[in-house]
Amino acid sequence: MSKFSLKINGNTQVVDVDDNTPMLWVLRDHLKLVGTKYGCGIAQCGACTVHLGDNAVRSCQIPVSSVGDQEITTIEGLSENGEHPVQQAWLEVDVPQCGYCQAGQIMSASALLKRNPSPSDAEIEAAMNGNICRCGTYTRIKKAIKTAATATENA
Ligand code: FES
Ligand code: FES
Repeated sequence: MSKFSLKINGNTQVVDVDDNTPMLWVLRDHLKLVGTKYGCGIAQCGACTVHLGDNAVRSCQIPVSSVGDQEITTIEGLSENGEHPVQQAWLEVDVPQCGYCQAGQIMSASALLKRNPSPSDAEIEAAMNGNICRCGTYTRIKKAIKTAATATENA
């Protein structure tokens, strides 16, 4: 066990865990940030997506010892009151069905729009390709990303 001081959602959190513990379990089990979901554990579904710096990463594949002083943002820290343009667009388009995959979808979408505020269809498909939705909400996800991109452009 080792102590790690982590920057998460704007706060410093200290956890005492094995070096190889995936960030997903640090977030969910140790810090009770359960918005980030466990789907596959092998980087194949995207349910566990968080931001490491500005990048969307699969937290099931990130050992806590590799994070260092990089900022981690989870769905709980994306905005204070759900006012992030992607969250607003998700509501407007009524994207979720069961909801299980949606935190990961939103974290991937928000990272995409941060680096590319006006993505093409192909760029959206490429960025969202690793986020699986068993309910098949893909069409609404794409529409919501375009809605959020337009809202950001007009802000
Ligand atoms: S749980 Fe991490 S990609 Fe599926
Ligand atoms: S909304 Fe059910 S898995 Fe995506």
